[in-house]
Amino acid sequence: MDHTLWYKDAVFYEVYVRAFHDSDNDGHGDLRGMIEKLDYVKELGVDCLWLLPIYPSPLKDDGYDISNFYDVHPTYGTLDDFEELLEEAHKRGLRVIMDLVLNHTSNMHPWFRAARANRNSIFRDYYVWSDSSLKYRDARIIFLDTEESNWGWDKKSEQYYWHRFYASQPDLNYDNPAVQAEMLKVMSFWLDLGVDGFRADAVPYLFEREGTGCENLPETHAYLKEIRKFINERYPGRILLAEANQWPEDIIPYFGDGGDEFHMGFHFPIMPRIFMSIRKEHRTQLVWIMGRTPALTETNQWCMFLRNHDELTLEMVTEEEREWMWQEFAPDPRMRLNLGIRRRLAPLLDNDHRKIMLANSLLFSLPGSPVIYYGDEIGMGDNISLHDRNGVRTPMQWDDSSSAGFSKAPSQSVYLPIIDDDTYGRKQVNVKSQQDNPYSLWHSVRNMIHARKKYPAFGRGDFQWIDCENEAIAAYVRTYEDQVIYVFNNMSASEHVISIPMQDIPGPLTDILTGKDYYIQDQTLTLKMSPRQYLWLV
Ligand code: BGC
Repeated sequence: MDHTLWYKDAVFYEVYVRAFHDSDNDGHGDLRGMIEKLDYVKELGVDCLWLLPIYPSPLKDDGYDISNFYDVHPTYGTLDDFEELLEEAHKRGLRVIMDLVLNHTSNMHPWFRAARANRNSIFRDYYVWSDSSLKYRDARIIFLDTEESNWGWDKKSEQYYWHRFYASQPDLNYDNPAVQAEMLKVMSFWLDLGVDGFRADAVPYLFEREGTGCENLPETHAYLKEIRKFINERYPGRILLAEANQWPEDIIPYFGDGGDEFHMGFHFPIMPRIFMSIRKEHRTQLVWIMGRTPALTETNQWCMFLRNHDELTLEMVTEEEREWMWQEFAPDPRMRLNLGIRRRLAPLLDNDHRKIMLANSLLFSLPGSPVIYYGDEIGMGDNISLHDRNGVRTPMQWDDSSSAGFSKAPSQSVYLPIIDDDTYGRKQVNVKSQQDNPYSLWHSVRNMIHARKKYPAFGRGDFQWIDCENEAIAAYVRTYEDQVIYVFNNMSASEHVISIPMQDIPGPLTDILTGKDYYIQDQTLTLKMSPRQYLWLV
Protein backbone atom coordinates (compact mmCIF):
# COMPACT_ATOMS: atom_id res chain seq x y z
CA MET A 1 0.00 0.00 0.00
CA ASP A 2 1.18 3.48 -0.83
CA HIS A 3 1.72 5.23 2.54
CA THR A 4 2.22 8.65 1.00
CA LEU A 5 -1.56 8.51 0.58
CA TRP A 6 -2.00 8.43 4.39
CA TYR A 7 -4.75 11.04 4.19
CA LYS A 8 -6.96 8.58 2.33
CA ASP A 9 -7.01 6.22 5.32
CA ALA A 10 -7.02 8.89 8.00
CA VAL A 11 -9.73 9.84 10.46
CA PHE A 12 -9.57 13.58 11.13
CA TYR A 13 -10.57 15.42 14.30
CA GLU A 14 -11.38 19.13 14.17
CA VAL A 15 -10.34 21.05 17.27
CA TYR A 16 -11.00 24.57 18.37
CA VAL A 17 -7.96 24.96 20.66
CA ARG A 18 -9.67 27.66 22.71
CA ALA A 19 -12.47 25.22 23.53
CA PHE A 20 -10.53 22.04 24.19
CA HIS A 21 -8.54 22.19 27.39
CA ASP A 22 -7.21 25.07 29.48
CA SER A 23 -3.82 24.22 31.02
CA ASP A 24 -3.08 27.56 32.69
CA ASN A 25 -6.55 28.28 34.01
CA ASP A 26 -7.10 31.62 32.32
CA GLY A 27 -10.44 30.44 30.92
CA HIS A 28 -9.17 29.81 27.39
CA GLY A 29 -8.09 26.46 26.02
CA ASP A 30 -4.47 26.41 24.88
CA LEU A 31 -1.79 24.42 23.10
CA ARG A 32 -0.43 22.89 26.30
CA GLY A 33 -3.99 21.82 27.14
CA MET A 34 -4.14 20.22 23.71
CA ILE A 35 -0.89 18.37 24.41
CA GLU A 36 -2.39 17.00 27.63
CA LYS A 37 -5.28 15.57 25.65
CA LEU A 38 -3.36 13.97 22.80
CA ASP A 39 -3.67 10.54 24.40
CA TYR A 40 -7.42 11.00 24.48
CA VAL A 41 -7.55 11.76 20.77
CA LYS A 42 -5.24 8.86 20.02
CA GLU A 43 -7.36 6.47 22.02
CA LEU A 44 -10.44 7.53 20.10
CA GLY A 45 -8.64 6.39 16.97
CA VAL A 46 -7.91 9.74 15.34
CA ASP A 47 -5.02 9.98 12.84
CA CYS A 48 -4.88 13.68 12.12
CA LEU A 49 -5.85 16.81 14.02
CA TRP A 50 -7.16 19.85 12.20
CA LEU A 51 -6.60 22.95 14.33
CA LEU A 52 -8.80 26.00 13.78
CA PRO A 53 -6.69 29.17 13.43
CA ILE A 54 -4.24 29.66 16.29
CA TYR A 55 -2.65 32.89 15.01
CA PRO A 56 -2.71 36.22 16.87
CA SER A 57 -6.07 37.77 16.18
CA PRO A 58 -8.61 40.20 17.63
CA LEU A 59 -10.94 37.17 17.51
CA LYS A 60 -13.77 38.98 15.76
CA ASP A 61 -14.17 35.78 13.75
CA ASP A 62 -12.61 33.35 16.21
CA GLY A 63 -9.19 33.59 14.64
CA TYR A 64 -10.17 33.62 10.96
CA ASP A 65 -9.26 37.29 11.27
CA ILE A 66 -5.48 37.08 11.50
CA SER A 67 -3.32 39.97 12.64
CA ASN A 68 0.02 38.15 12.43
CA PHE A 69 0.67 35.07 10.31
CA TYR A 70 3.91 34.19 12.10
CA ASP A 71 2.95 33.66 15.71
CA VAL A 72 0.52 32.02 18.11
CA HIS A 73 -2.34 33.87 19.78
CA PRO A 74 -1.04 34.76 23.27
CA THR A 75 -3.80 33.04 25.24
CA TYR A 76 -3.16 29.84 23.27
CA GLY A 77 0.57 29.76 24.08
CA THR A 78 3.80 30.30 22.21
CA LEU A 79 5.57 29.02 19.13
CA ASP A 80 7.59 26.78 21.44
CA ASP A 81 4.36 25.25 22.72
CA PHE A 82 3.28 24.70 19.16
CA GLU A 83 6.52 22.94 18.32
CA GLU A 84 6.11 20.77 21.36
CA LEU A 85 2.57 19.95 20.31
CA LEU A 86 3.84 18.83 16.92
CA GLU A 87 6.57 16.77 18.49
CA GLU A 88 4.23 15.09 20.98
CA ALA A 89 1.61 14.45 18.31
CA HIS A 90 4.14 12.97 15.90
CA LYS A 91 5.56 10.79 18.67
CA ARG A 92 2.09 9.25 18.97
CA GLY A 93 1.71 8.79 15.24
CA LEU A 94 -0.75 11.67 15.02
CA ARG A 95 -0.51 14.23 12.24
CA VAL A 96 -1.50 17.88 12.56
CA ILE A 97 -2.90 20.19 9.91
CA MET A 98 -3.79 23.80 10.56
CA ASP A 99 -6.03 26.41 9.03
CA LEU A 100 -4.44 28.59 6.38
CA VAL A 101 -6.50 31.71 5.77
CA LEU A 102 -5.49 32.97 2.34
CA ASN A 103 -8.39 35.16 1.37
CA HIS A 104 -8.25 37.92 3.98
CA THR A 105 -6.59 39.33 7.08
CA SER A 106 -7.94 41.13 10.11
CA ASN A 107 -8.34 44.88 9.73
CA MET A 108 -5.89 45.00 12.65
CA HIS A 109 -3.15 43.37 10.58
CA PRO A 110 -0.20 45.80 10.15
CA TRP A 111 -0.58 45.48 6.35
CA PHE A 112 -4.10 46.83 6.47
CA ARG A 113 -3.25 49.51 9.02
CA ALA A 114 -0.44 50.73 6.79
CA ALA A 115 -2.66 50.45 3.69
CA ARG A 116 -5.41 52.62 5.10
CA ALA A 117 -3.04 55.09 6.77
CA ASN A 118 -1.39 56.10 3.52
CA ARG A 119 -2.61 55.61 -0.02
CA ASN A 120 1.02 55.53 -1.17
CA SER A 121 2.06 52.78 1.18
CA ILE A 122 3.39 49.65 -0.55
CA PHE A 123 0.74 47.79 1.43
CA ARG A 124 -2.11 49.74 -0.20
CA ASP A 125 -2.06 47.29 -3.07
CA TYR A 126 -2.21 44.31 -0.69
CA TYR A 127 -5.96 44.91 -0.53
CA VAL A 128 -8.74 45.58 -3.03
CA TRP A 129 -9.86 49.24 -3.17
CA SER A 130 -12.45 51.12 -5.18
CA ASP A 131 -14.06 54.54 -5.39
CA SER A 132 -17.36 52.88 -6.07
CA SER A 133 -19.29 50.24 -4.15
CA LEU A 134 -20.92 49.15 -7.38
CA LYS A 135 -17.98 47.12 -8.64
CA TYR A 136 -18.28 43.29 -8.69
CA ARG A 137 -22.01 43.42 -8.06
CA ASP A 138 -22.53 39.81 -9.08
CA ALA A 139 -20.65 38.50 -6.06
CA ARG A 140 -23.06 37.15 -3.45
CA ILE A 141 -22.90 38.15 0.20
CA ILE A 142 -21.88 35.21 2.39
CA PHE A 143 -22.53 36.52 5.90
CA LEU A 144 -26.07 37.55 4.98
CA ASP A 145 -27.25 38.15 8.53
CA THR A 146 -24.59 40.75 9.31
CA GLU A 147 -23.21 42.26 6.10
CA GLU A 148 -25.12 44.41 3.63
CA SER A 149 -22.36 44.70 1.08
CA ASN A 150 -19.02 43.20 0.14
CA TRP A 151 -17.61 46.75 0.22
CA GLY A 152 -16.65 48.53 3.42
CA TRP A 153 -16.05 52.26 3.56
CA ASP A 154 -12.67 53.31 4.89
CA LYS A 155 -13.12 56.76 6.36
CA LYS A 156 -9.41 57.29 6.77
CA SER A 157 -8.40 56.83 3.15
CA GLU A 158 -11.83 57.58 1.65
CA GLN A 159 -12.20 54.55 -0.53
CA TYR A 160 -14.10 51.30 -0.33
CA TYR A 161 -12.26 48.04 0.46
CA TRP A 162 -13.45 44.59 -0.60
CA HIS A 163 -14.45 41.93 1.97
CA ARG A 164 -16.26 38.64 1.34
CA PHE A 165 -16.77 37.96 5.05
CA TYR A 166 -17.06 40.37 8.00
CA ALA A 167 -16.19 44.00 7.33
CA SER A 168 -13.36 43.47 9.83
CA GLN A 169 -11.78 40.98 7.37
CA PRO A 170 -10.51 42.89 4.31
CA ASP A 171 -9.74 40.62 1.33
CA LEU A 172 -6.17 40.35 0.16
CA ASN A 173 -5.44 41.37 -3.43
CA TYR A 174 -4.11 38.30 -5.24
CA ASP A 175 -3.50 40.33 -8.39
CA ASN A 176 -0.53 41.67 -6.48
CA PRO A 177 2.45 39.26 -6.87
CA ALA A 178 3.78 40.46 -3.51
CA VAL A 179 0.67 39.03 -1.80
CA GLN A 180 1.10 35.76 -3.64
CA ALA A 181 4.72 35.55 -2.50
CA GLU A 182 3.87 36.53 1.10
CA MET A 183 1.45 33.65 1.46
CA LEU A 184 4.02 31.14 0.25
CA LYS A 185 6.34 32.51 2.89
CA VAL A 186 3.66 32.02 5.53
CA MET A 187 3.21 28.43 4.42
CA SER A 188 6.95 27.77 4.56
CA PHE A 189 7.14 29.12 8.08
CA TRP A 190 4.64 26.57 9.44
CA LEU A 191 5.76 23.72 7.22
CA ASP A 192 9.32 24.24 8.44
CA LEU A 193 8.03 23.88 12.00
CA GLY A 194 6.63 20.52 10.93
CA VAL A 195 2.89 20.84 10.25
CA ASP A 196 1.55 18.09 8.02
CA GLY A 197 -0.56 20.34 5.85
CA PHE A 198 -3.27 22.95 5.72
CA ARG A 199 -7.01 23.21 5.61
CA ALA A 200 -7.16 26.12 3.20
CA ASP A 201 -9.99 28.43 4.18
CA ALA A 202 -12.44 30.00 1.74
CA VAL A 203 -10.41 29.27 -1.39
CA PRO A 204 -12.99 30.10 -4.08
CA TYR A 205 -12.77 33.84 -3.41
CA LEU A 206 -9.13 34.78 -3.95
CA PHE A 207 -9.58 36.80 -7.16
CA GLU A 208 -12.25 39.23 -8.33
CA ARG A 209 -13.32 39.85 -11.91
CA GLU A 210 -16.10 42.11 -13.20
CA GLY A 211 -19.11 40.33 -14.64
CA THR A 212 -18.52 37.14 -12.62
CA GLY A 213 -19.64 35.89 -9.21
CA CYS A 214 -15.97 36.25 -8.18
CA GLU A 215 -15.82 32.57 -7.22
CA ASN A 216 -13.84 29.66 -8.71
CA LEU A 217 -12.11 31.94 -11.23
CA PRO A 218 -9.35 30.56 -13.48
CA GLU A 219 -6.91 33.02 -11.88
CA THR A 220 -7.73 31.53 -8.48
CA HIS A 221 -7.03 28.02 -9.73
CA ALA A 222 -3.78 29.17 -11.31
CA TYR A 223 -2.55 30.51 -7.97
CA LEU A 224 -3.66 27.40 -6.10
CA LYS A 225 -1.66 25.33 -8.56
CA GLU A 226 1.37 27.45 -7.68
CA ILE A 227 0.84 26.57 -4.05
CA ARG A 228 0.65 22.87 -4.84
CA LYS A 229 3.77 23.04 -6.96
CA PHE A 230 5.56 24.73 -4.07
CA ILE A 231 4.43 21.94 -1.69
CA ASN A 232 5.38 19.18 -4.12
CA GLU A 233 8.83 20.60 -4.69
CA ARG A 234 9.70 21.62 -1.16
CA TYR A 235 7.42 19.71 1.21
CA PRO A 236 6.36 16.44 -0.43
CA GLY A 237 3.96 14.40 1.70
CA ARG A 238 2.24 17.43 3.27
CA ILE A 239 -1.37 17.90 2.28
CA LEU A 240 -3.75 20.62 1.16
CA LEU A 241 -7.43 20.37 2.01
CA ALA A 242 -9.80 22.75 0.23
CA GLU A 243 -12.71 24.49 1.86
CA ALA A 244 -14.78 25.23 -1.21
CA ASN A 245 -18.46 25.28 -0.39
CA GLN A 246 -19.58 24.44 -3.93
CA TRP A 247 -21.41 21.84 -5.98
CA PRO A 248 -19.37 18.72 -6.84
CA GLU A 249 -18.82 19.88 -10.42
CA ASP A 250 -17.33 23.14 -9.10
CA ILE A 251 -15.24 21.38 -6.45
CA ILE A 252 -13.70 18.95 -8.93
CA PRO A 253 -11.45 21.60 -10.51
CA TYR A 254 -9.90 22.15 -7.04
CA PHE A 255 -8.49 18.64 -7.25
CA GLY A 256 -6.66 19.85 -10.34
CA ASP A 257 -5.45 17.99 -13.29
CA GLY A 258 -3.33 14.97 -12.43
CA GLY A 259 -2.96 16.01 -8.80
CA ASP A 260 -1.71 19.55 -9.35
CA GLU A 261 -4.02 21.39 -6.96
CA PHE A 262 -5.60 20.09 -3.71
CA HIS A 263 -5.19 16.59 -2.27
CA MET A 264 -8.53 16.78 -0.52
CA GLY A 265 -11.75 18.76 -0.62
CA PHE A 266 -14.74 18.86 1.71
CA HIS A 267 -17.88 17.33 0.26
CA PHE A 268 -20.32 20.11 1.16
CA PRO A 269 -23.36 18.97 -0.87
CA ILE A 270 -23.61 15.50 0.62
CA MET A 271 -23.61 16.75 4.22
CA PRO A 272 -27.15 18.23 4.44
CA ARG A 273 -28.45 15.24 2.46
CA ILE A 274 -27.28 12.85 5.15
CA PHE A 275 -29.53 14.71 7.60
CA MET A 276 -32.33 14.92 5.05
CA SER A 277 -32.25 11.22 4.28
CA ILE A 278 -32.30 10.29 7.97
CA ARG A 279 -35.28 12.58 8.58
CA LYS A 280 -37.14 11.41 5.48
CA GLU A 281 -36.22 7.82 6.26
CA HIS A 282 -35.17 6.98 2.73
CA ARG A 283 -32.06 7.05 0.61
CA THR A 284 -33.30 9.11 -2.37
CA GLN A 285 -31.29 12.27 -1.59
CA LEU A 286 -28.12 10.28 -1.09
CA VAL A 287 -28.53 8.44 -4.37
CA TRP A 288 -29.08 11.73 -6.15
CA ILE A 289 -25.97 13.41 -4.77
CA MET A 290 -23.74 10.36 -5.18
CA GLY A 291 -24.88 10.31 -8.80
CA ARG A 292 -23.39 13.78 -9.12
CA THR A 293 -20.21 12.87 -7.27
CA PRO A 294 -17.55 11.74 -9.70
CA ALA A 295 -14.92 9.23 -8.64
CA LEU A 296 -11.63 10.96 -7.89
CA THR A 297 -8.17 10.05 -9.06
CA GLU A 298 -6.03 7.83 -6.88
CA THR A 299 -4.21 10.65 -5.10
CA ASN A 300 -7.34 12.69 -4.30
CA GLN A 301 -9.86 12.28 -1.55
CA TRP A 302 -13.18 13.71 -0.38
CA CYS A 303 -13.32 14.94 3.17
CA MET A 304 -16.63 13.93 4.72
CA PHE A 305 -18.22 15.66 7.69
CA LEU A 306 -21.50 15.91 9.53
CA ARG A 307 -20.85 19.06 11.52
CA ASN A 308 -18.10 21.60 11.94
CA HIS A 309 -17.46 24.90 13.70
CA ASP A 310 -19.73 26.84 11.33
CA GLU A 311 -23.46 26.73 10.78
CA LEU A 312 -24.69 23.61 9.00
CA THR A 313 -24.66 25.27 5.64
CA LEU A 314 -27.64 24.94 3.33
CA GLU A 315 -26.05 26.64 0.37
CA MET A 316 -25.83 23.41 -1.60
CA VAL A 317 -29.55 22.53 -1.53
CA THR A 318 -32.55 23.93 -3.44
CA GLU A 319 -34.64 26.72 -1.91
CA GLU A 320 -37.44 24.29 -1.25
CA GLU A 321 -35.11 21.84 0.48
CA ARG A 322 -33.67 24.66 2.57
CA GLU A 323 -37.11 25.70 3.78
CA TRP A 324 -37.84 22.10 4.68
CA MET A 325 -34.52 21.69 6.49
CA TRP A 326 -35.16 24.87 8.47
CA GLN A 327 -38.64 23.70 9.44
CA GLU A 328 -37.46 20.26 10.45
CA PHE A 329 -34.12 21.03 12.07
CA ALA A 330 -34.36 24.66 13.12
CA PRO A 331 -37.93 25.31 14.24
CA ASP A 332 -36.77 28.12 16.55
CA PRO A 333 -35.58 31.08 14.43
CA ARG A 334 -32.61 31.46 16.78
CA MET A 335 -31.32 28.16 15.44
CA ARG A 336 -30.84 29.72 11.99
CA LEU A 337 -27.87 31.69 10.78
CA ASN A 338 -27.17 33.05 7.32
CA LEU A 339 -28.17 30.19 5.00
CA GLY A 340 -27.75 27.53 7.65
CA ILE A 341 -28.46 26.00 11.02
CA ARG A 342 -26.31 26.71 14.05
CA ARG A 343 -26.75 23.49 15.99
CA ARG A 344 -24.63 20.51 16.93
CA LEU A 345 -24.96 16.91 15.81
CA ALA A 346 -26.71 15.41 18.84
CA PRO A 347 -29.47 18.04 19.14
CA LEU A 348 -30.04 17.89 15.37
CA LEU A 349 -30.67 14.16 15.66
CA ASP A 350 -32.90 14.38 18.75
CA ASN A 351 -30.11 13.11 21.00
CA ASP A 352 -31.02 9.67 19.71
CA HIS A 353 -28.04 7.29 19.96
CA ARG A 354 -29.28 5.16 17.05
CA LYS A 355 -29.82 8.12 14.73
CA ILE A 356 -26.44 9.58 15.62
CA MET A 357 -24.71 6.26 14.96
CA LEU A 358 -26.61 5.82 11.69
CA ALA A 359 -25.29 9.22 10.61
CA ASN A 360 -21.81 8.07 11.68
CA SER A 361 -22.21 4.83 9.75
CA LEU A 362 -22.78 6.92 6.61
CA LEU A 363 -19.95 9.31 7.51
CA PHE A 364 -17.47 6.48 8.02
CA SER A 365 -18.48 4.22 5.15
CA LEU A 366 -19.23 6.50 2.20
CA PRO A 367 -16.22 7.36 0.01
CA GLY A 368 -13.85 9.84 1.63
CA SER A 369 -12.00 10.50 4.86
CA PRO A 370 -14.21 11.46 7.81
CA VAL A 371 -13.78 14.46 10.10
CA ILE A 372 -15.21 14.46 13.61
CA TYR A 373 -15.98 17.82 15.17
CA TYR A 374 -14.69 17.94 18.76
CA GLY A 375 -17.38 16.99 21.26
CA ASP A 376 -19.64 15.26 18.75
CA GLU A 377 -18.14 11.92 19.77
CA ILE A 378 -19.85 12.36 23.15
CA GLY A 379 -22.96 14.06 21.76
CA MET A 380 -22.34 17.54 23.15
CA GLY A 381 -25.18 20.04 22.97
CA ASP A 382 -25.33 23.61 21.73
CA ASN A 383 -26.44 26.94 23.18
CA ILE A 384 -28.59 28.94 20.80
CA SER A 385 -28.71 31.92 23.11
CA LEU A 386 -25.06 32.65 22.29
CA HIS A 387 -24.14 34.98 19.47
CA ASP A 388 -23.27 33.88 15.90
CA ARG A 389 -21.63 30.41 15.80
CA ASN A 390 -20.53 30.52 19.46
CA GLY A 391 -23.31 28.14 20.44
CA VAL A 392 -21.43 25.24 18.81
CA ARG A 393 -18.00 26.33 20.09
CA THR A 394 -18.46 25.91 23.83
CA PRO A 395 -15.90 24.23 26.15
CA MET A 396 -15.29 20.51 25.79
CA GLN A 397 -16.97 18.54 28.58
CA TRP A 398 -14.39 16.23 30.13
CA ASP A 399 -16.09 15.38 33.41
CA ASP A 400 -18.98 16.40 35.62
CA SER A 401 -17.04 18.84 37.82
CA SER A 402 -18.20 22.44 37.91
CA SER A 403 -15.86 23.48 35.08
CA ALA A 404 -16.49 20.22 33.18
CA GLY A 405 -12.78 19.49 33.57
CA PHE A 406 -12.08 22.17 30.96
CA SER A 407 -10.52 24.80 33.21
CA LYS A 408 -10.02 25.73 36.83
CA ALA A 409 -10.67 29.39 36.09
CA PRO A 410 -13.67 31.03 37.79
CA SER A 411 -16.67 30.50 35.53
CA GLN A 412 -16.92 34.21 34.70
CA SER A 413 -13.46 34.07 33.09
CA VAL A 414 -14.22 31.09 30.87
CA TYR A 415 -14.40 32.35 27.26
CA LEU A 416 -17.95 30.98 26.80
CA PRO A 417 -20.39 29.41 29.27
CA ILE A 418 -20.20 25.64 29.55
CA ILE A 419 -23.40 23.99 28.33
CA ASP A 420 -25.68 23.78 31.32
CA ASP A 421 -29.06 22.35 30.47
CA ASP A 422 -30.84 19.24 31.71
CA THR A 423 -30.05 17.17 28.63
CA TYR A 424 -26.59 18.24 27.54
CA GLY A 425 -25.07 19.72 30.70
CA ARG A 426 -21.73 18.49 32.04
CA LYS A 427 -23.43 16.03 34.41
CA GLN A 428 -25.32 14.37 31.56
CA VAL A 429 -22.67 14.56 28.83
CA ASN A 430 -18.97 14.19 29.55
CA VAL A 431 -15.99 12.14 28.41
CA LYS A 432 -15.26 10.50 31.73
CA SER A 433 -18.69 8.97 32.29
CA GLN A 434 -18.91 7.82 28.67
CA GLN A 435 -15.52 6.16 28.84
CA ASP A 436 -16.72 4.32 31.93
CA ASN A 437 -19.87 3.07 30.18
CA PRO A 438 -19.30 0.52 27.42
CA TYR A 439 -22.71 1.33 25.89
CA SER A 440 -22.01 5.06 25.53
CA LEU A 441 -21.88 7.04 22.31
CA TRP A 442 -18.14 7.51 22.84
CA HIS A 443 -17.58 3.76 22.81
CA SER A 444 -19.79 3.29 19.75
CA VAL A 445 -17.87 5.97 17.85
CA ARG A 446 -14.54 4.60 18.96
CA ASN A 447 -15.47 1.06 17.92
CA MET A 448 -16.59 2.29 14.54
CA ILE A 449 -13.35 4.19 13.98
CA HIS A 450 -11.22 1.22 14.98
CA ALA A 451 -13.27 -1.13 12.80
CA ARG A 452 -12.92 1.19 9.82
CA LYS A 453 -9.17 1.37 10.23
CA LYS A 454 -8.78 -2.36 9.61
CA TYR A 455 -10.23 -2.07 6.10
CA PRO A 456 -8.59 0.22 3.55
CA ALA A 457 -11.64 -0.27 1.32
CA PHE A 458 -13.39 2.50 3.28
CA GLY A 459 -10.78 5.12 2.49
CA ARG A 460 -9.58 3.88 -0.86
CA GLY A 461 -12.22 1.62 -2.34
CA ASP A 462 -14.65 2.00 -5.22
CA PHE A 463 -18.26 2.73 -4.43
CA GLN A 464 -21.31 1.14 -5.95
CA TRP A 465 -24.97 1.07 -4.92
CA ILE A 466 -26.45 -2.35 -4.25
CA ASP A 467 -29.70 -2.89 -6.05
CA CYS A 468 -32.31 -2.90 -3.31
CA GLU A 469 -35.95 -2.21 -4.05
CA ASN A 470 -36.70 -0.94 -0.57
CA GLU A 471 -35.87 2.76 -0.52
CA ALA A 472 -35.57 2.82 3.26
CA ILE A 473 -32.31 0.95 2.85
CA ALA A 474 -29.12 2.67 1.71
CA ALA A 475 -26.96 -0.26 0.62
CA TYR A 476 -23.63 -0.08 -1.15
CA VAL A 477 -20.50 -2.00 -1.70
CA ARG A 478 -16.95 -0.75 -1.16
CA THR A 479 -14.24 -2.62 -3.03
CA TYR A 480 -10.47 -2.32 -2.81
CA GLU A 481 -8.10 -4.91 -4.25
CA ASP A 482 -9.51 -8.20 -2.91
CA GLN A 483 -11.49 -6.53 -0.11
CA VAL A 484 -15.26 -6.32 -0.54
CA ILE A 485 -17.48 -4.69 2.08
CA TYR A 486 -21.26 -4.60 1.86
CA VAL A 487 -22.79 -1.74 3.81
CA PHE A 488 -26.48 -1.72 4.72
CA ASN A 489 -28.11 1.23 6.47
CA ASN A 490 -31.73 1.11 7.49
CA MET A 491 -32.63 4.79 7.27
CA SER A 492 -36.03 4.31 8.80
CA ALA A 493 -37.62 4.01 12.23
CA SER A 494 -39.23 0.70 11.36
CA GLU A 495 -38.00 -2.82 10.80
CA HIS A 496 -37.41 -3.96 7.22
CA VAL A 497 -36.67 -7.37 5.80
CA ILE A 498 -34.68 -7.28 2.58
CA SER A 499 -33.46 -9.96 0.23
CA ILE A 500 -30.43 -9.27 -1.91
CA PRO A 501 -29.48 -11.69 -4.68
CA MET A 502 -25.86 -12.72 -4.21
CA GLN A 503 -23.57 -15.44 -5.40
CA ASP A 504 -23.21 -18.15 -2.79
CA ILE A 505 -20.11 -17.52 -0.74
CA PRO A 506 -18.81 -20.58 1.16
CA GLY A 507 -18.47 -18.92 4.57
CA PRO A 508 -20.74 -16.38 6.23
CA LEU A 509 -20.49 -12.61 5.81
CA THR A 510 -19.38 -11.09 9.09
CA ASP A 511 -20.41 -7.73 10.49
CA ILE A 512 -17.19 -5.84 11.11
CA LEU A 513 -18.82 -3.89 13.92
CA THR A 514 -20.40 -6.67 15.99
CA GLY A 515 -18.72 -9.85 14.76
CA LYS A 516 -22.13 -11.36 14.00
CA ASP A 517 -22.37 -13.76 11.01
CA TYR A 518 -24.88 -13.60 8.16
CA TYR A 519 -25.33 -16.49 5.74
CA ILE A 520 -26.18 -16.44 2.09
CA GLN A 521 -28.69 -19.14 1.24
CA ASP A 522 -30.04 -20.03 -2.19
CA GLN A 523 -27.98 -17.24 -3.63
CA THR A 524 -29.83 -14.72 -1.47
CA LEU A 525 -28.77 -12.63 1.48
CA THR A 526 -31.80 -12.04 3.66
CA LEU A 527 -31.50 -9.40 6.34
CA LYS A 528 -34.01 -8.42 8.96
CA MET A 529 -32.95 -4.90 9.77
CA SER A 530 -34.11 -3.27 12.96
CA PRO A 531 -34.92 0.48 13.03
CA ARG A 532 -31.85 2.56 12.04
CA GLN A 533 -29.65 -0.52 12.03
CA TYR A 534 -26.41 -0.50 10.05
CA LEU A 535 -24.29 -3.45 9.02
CA TRP A 536 -20.81 -3.47 7.55
CA LEU A 537 -20.45 -6.98 6.15
CA VAL A 538 -17.18 -8.40 4.98
C1 BGC B 1 -14.63 29.45 8.04
C2 BGC B 1 -15.48 30.35 8.86
C3 BGC B 1 -14.97 31.77 8.71
C4 BGC B 1 -14.85 32.17 7.23
C5 BGC B 1 -14.06 33.42 7.05
C6 BGC B 1 -14.84 29.96 6.66
O1 BGC B 1 -15.38 29.37 5.69
O2 BGC B 1 -14.98 28.11 8.15
O3 BGC B 1 -15.51 29.97 10.20
O4 BGC B 1 -15.83 32.66 9.36
O5 BGC B 1 -14.20 31.18 6.49
O6 BGC B 1 -12.72 33.18 7.29
